[in-house]
Order: sequence, then structure tokens, then C-alpha cells
Amino acid sequence: MLSEKTKTAILELQKIYPEKRSALIPALHLAQAERGYLPRETQDEVAELFGIAPNEVNAVVTFYDMFFEEPVGKHIVHVCKNVSCMLRGADELLEKLCVKLRVAPGGGSTEDGEFTVIPSECLAACDKAPMMLVDDKVVGPVREDDLDRIVDQARKGTGHPSPVKKAEADHA
Ligand code: FES
Repeated sequence: MLSEKTKTAILELQKIYPEKRSALIPALHLAQAERGYLPRETQDEVAELFGIAPNEVNAVVTFYDMFFEEPVGKHIVHVCKNVSCMLRGADELLEKLCVKLRVAPGGGSTEDGEFTVIPSECLAACDKAPMMLVDDKVVGPVREDDLDRIVDQARKGTGHPSPVKKAEADHA
């Protein structure tokens, strides 16, 4: 269950848009910041707050790579698999990264909860193909022998930034 604080924040958010459903994406960020991910029960709670069908919320959650239906690791590595990156070796990179991190082929989370690998559609940095988004930072072009360094560097960082927590920190 979402906390009263998050529910109130979502209702407040709705008031600042001419159409309250325009607040859906920021509301989902708030819900995800609290839960860490967006299980169906949380999506349903958000749908109820907006007075819309749960499937509409699920369509948004599953469309955007920034929302997670399953728990994710501290570090998130999106590997672009779209055409420009694929033509420059994205499939092989993804495979090597999954082997290195010992996650399921095609992506998943490490057992220690440190990393989640997510194959993604075009991440709008085709000039850096093949590229990855590592904790929201564009990295590329990536060669196979860059993977150790990229993973080690990420491990030293603070992890995937939640847009909500980042905004709170910026205004602190
Ligand atoms: S195809 Fe990979 S960033 Fe566009």
C-alpha cells in the first residue's frame, strides 16, 4: 500500500495540470520512489487515484524503460538493442554483460541486488552506438573490453538516481 504521504502528494500533483491525467507520469515516479518498483497492486492504487482503468496505467508503466514492474538492482544498465546499436554489436555486448554479471541471458538482476540489465529500444544516442545507459549516464561506443571498467565504475557510484529523490536533493 502506498503511504498517505505519497497519496496526498499525487492528489496535489493532479491539481497543477489542466487535465489531471497529465500528472500520471510524475505520479508514477512518486509511487516508484516509495516502493522501489511498481507492482500491479501499486499501479492499481495509482489508477484509483486518477479514476482511470488499471490497464491504462499498466500501458504507461510498460511503455517507458524508466518504470519497473519487478524489483531492480541498485545500478541499472540499459543496453540499447535498436538498429544502429544492433548493427554495431549490441547483441554480443548484451550477451557478454549478462555472462559477466551472471544474470539471465537477455537481461535480469544479479543475486546480490547490485545490478539490473535491461535491453532497451533506441536510447537517443545512436552516434555512440553501440551504447548503454549506466545509472542514467550515456556510455558509448562500448567495446567488449570496456565492460569490466564500466561495471567497476558503476559499482563505485551511488546507483540509479530516482528522479524524485534527485529533485528533493536539488531543492534541499
Ligand atoms: S539505436 Fe541505439 S541509441 Fe539509437
